Amino acid sequence: MDDQHGILMDTMNELRLAVVHGRGREEISALLDQLIEFTRMHYWSEEQLMEHSGFPGLAEHRDEHHAMLARMLQSGHKVQYGEGVPLRQLLCSLRDRYIDHIEKLDQPYGPWLNERGVY
Ligand SMILES: [Fe+2]
Ligand SMILES: [Fe+2]
Repeated sequence: MDDQHGILMDTMNELRLAVVHGRGREEISALLDQLIEFTRMHYWSEEQLMEHSGFPGLAEHRDEHHAMLARMLQSGHKVQYGEGVPLRQLLCSLRDRYIDHIEKLDQPYGPWLNERGVY
């Protein structure tokens, strides 16, 4: 899971750089789509792991994943169609929330899984 988080953060950084360097909407939109696809896959594997190990915080965590994906899709839509939307601000808040999720919600279940010898 930490590997996946690493890849996600790399993609997030790539996206941030694309915005900083003033790349076109198309390129940013494609990167964001890539991030969304990978996130979807990552969330799914996280939830599978939690489900199989009987993690007690699964329902809450799943809700947060849904909220996160909805927000990303919404941002994707804005990037694609919302002319004049401040991209930097949009992606910064997305990024903050993303990191927040990994730090506050994903970190606690790692040790919990380790204790049970899941990985
Ligand atoms: Fe995660
Ligand atoms: Fe998560």
